[in-house]
Amino acid sequence: MDRRFEFVRTATSRVVVGRSIAPQLPAAVAALRPDGIVLVHDEAVAPLAVRLAAELGARGAIPIQGGESCKQLARAGELASELTRLRATRGTVLVALGGGTVTDLAGFTAAIYLRGILCVLCPTTTLAACDAALGGKNGVDHGGLKNRLGTFRQPALLFADVDWLATLPDPPFREGLVEVVKKAAVLDAQHFARLEALAPALARRDPAATLEAVEMAVAMKMGVVVADETEAGPRAALNFGHTIGHALESLSGETLRHGPAVAMGMLAECRAAGGVVPKEAHSRIAALLALLGVDTAIPPHLADAAALWRFATLDKKVREGRLPMVVPAAIGQRTVVELTEHALARALA
Ligand SMILES: NC(=O)c1ccc[n+]([C@@H]2O[C@H](COP(=O)([O-])OP(=O)(O)OC[C@H]3O[C@@H](n4cnc5c(N)ncnc54)[C@H](O)[C@@H]3O)[C@@H](O)[C@H]2O)c1
Ligand SMILES: [Zn+2]
Repeated sequence: MDRRFEFVRTATSRVVVGRSIAPQLPAAVAALRPDGIVLVHDEAVAPLAVRLAAELGARGAIPIQGGESCKQLARAGELASELTRLRATRGTVLVALGGGTVTDLAGFTAAIYLRGILCVLCPTTTLAACDAALGGKNGVDHGGLKNRLGTFRQPALLFADVDWLATLPDPPFREGLVEVVKKAAVLDAQHFARLEALAPALARRDPAATLEAVEMAVAMKMGVVVADETEAGPRAALNFGHTIGHALESLSGETLRHGPAVAMGMLAECRAAGGVVPKEAHSRIAALLALLGVDTAIPPHLADAAALWRFATLDKKVREGRLPMVVPAAIGQRTVVELTEHALARALA
């Protein structure tokens, strides 16, 4: 799969996804005509990074300890200092290899270094390949709040080789698939049915099934992002599960990972929406998440409606105690409901 997406604000972004396609990465990066390449990578994929850095002819490879704690303004500053040390100029391309935390941090740093240098994202987690590295949102956490500081800036290239997922442990592998389920649940009934059929193969990490899921994620996400780059309209559909999911992450002090938080959030939002989400849609989402082996039970210490409501309303527009939230009107169709603290409490009971 090799597609180009045209954006109104940020020119062109290319998405290349496949199996065993790493040998094509140097040519794809060279096509951006870089004046120097710097690789930043998660330490967890160091052997792969060393190989790719050599093949890319990178002038440096900067290791980062991935995980939510790397998404900090101070870490963006350190990365910028490394870029300066490596004499990165406006023409330098920053290639980021890692999960969503590394691609968020690198995308953000690339967006502000010298007012913006080109960035290539190479996701190594299912979550990053299916969501985080797609669509041009990037950023860091701040003041205990997720993604408080960030930019909208498309990567020049997203290059994903599903072989790179091989070293990922089972839990994060499964949890990343939550983002594909989320998209299909509100955007595409056919893709949802296909995911139901693929679920056993996905649960045993079959590479062909994984590639198909990543391709679906790219098609669904880029479809809404091209239509709505800065999230004024249809892109809001991608927030299904995230109103409550992000609040759960924040309340947990970022110890709850993003995938399970969104899985818990999707089901809680279906419950909070009352009769708006048909039982059939709700139970198919729950069943698919179970088939994929994702934990969807909210831990008792996080089932605190007042605390979750405070987090949920910190970064969203609340009108008269009501928070707009996208939920499925049926599988593959979305609608907006208004979350209240009362409905949230009911969903947690
Ligand atoms: N920008 C967006 O639009 C967007 C969308 C969704 C999620 N996100 C963000 O993505 C982040 C979560 O991403 P994630 O789940 O990839 O987390 P992550 O980057 O923390 O990766 C998960 C863990 O796997 C390790 N790892 C990564 N690749 C590996 C590999 N191939 N083999 C072995 N270990 C590997 C990492 O070191 C880390 O410990 C969150 O911060 C979330 O906010 C952003
Ligand atoms: Zn998400």
